[in-house]
Amino acid sequence: MALRIYLLPLCLGLTLVSCAPKPLTQAVTYEERTLHDPEGIGKFYMGREIANVMGFSGAAWLERASREQTEQPERVLQSLDLRPTDVVADIGAGTGYFTFRISPLVPQGKVLAVDVQPEMITVLTGLTKDRHIPNVTPILGTITDPKLPAQSVDLALMVDTYHELSHPREMMAGIVQALKPGGRVVLIEYRGEDGNIPIKALHKMTQEQARREMAGAGLVWQETKNFLPYQHLMVFSKPTS
Ligand SMILES: C[S@@+](CC[C@H](N)C(=O)[O-])C[C@H]1O[C@@H](n2cnc3c(N)ncnc32)[C@H](O)[C@@H]1O
Repeated sequence: MALRIYLLPLCLGLTLVSCAPKPLTQAVTYEERTLHDPEGIGKFYMGREIANVMGFSGAAWLERASREQTEQPERVLQSLDLRPTDVVADIGAGTGYFTFRISPLVPQGKVLAVDVQPEMITVLTGLTKDRHIPNVTPILGTITDPKLPAQSVDLALMVDTYHELSHPREMMAGIVQALKPGGRVVLIEYRGEDGNIPIKALHKMTQEQARREMAGAGLVWQETKNFLPYQHLMVFSKPTS
């Protein structure tokens, strides 16, 4: 306390810039380590090692029948209270497991299905055309930019994806600029707190870590829904001002 009182006049007298708290998005950098988990890329963000990306060779796994039980997509979508006009960005859409379940729920809106793997975009584009779906737009993003228009998105959904973004800080900046004021980000991640969940450690996240990283992106935690057997469903929002 006493130290603060001594430092305050110094801050005011010398420079306001150096003593002002920096926004977390600028202050936090990545750390590279040579000794790391083989499931990760050796790059750490806020103490968490980033996981390897699930390659296209794993695409069939995304469509496994058991997901209906373990990840309960219908209950997830019901819990999101989507409006028919909503614009939803499915970030890391993969083969469209969620994209094509969301599209009928937003008939006057649209689903922007973003992925960085061209093979996933080919699948998304093919299915969209074959099924004559008018409101799904596949978008080939980059590892640092989801390529979404500014202030256009009501909800950005990331299912089993956030933990493997190689540049979470840049991606979240792109997502936040694409959200409308008050727009939501929903993260669904396997619960890192639970050692009994049979998923490799780097492919899970703790709620504490997710909340820290979203706060770093300027988002406000709203709630965590715990109805899924293995995953957190965490809701954040972009401040309105
Ligand atoms: C584990 S899969 C999940 C796919 C889908 N969300 C689902 O639940 O079926 C993660 C996906 O995220 C994609 N991905 C990884 N980094 C990304 C990034 N920076 N931007 C967009 N997609 C990314 C991967 O290519 C992969 O298709």
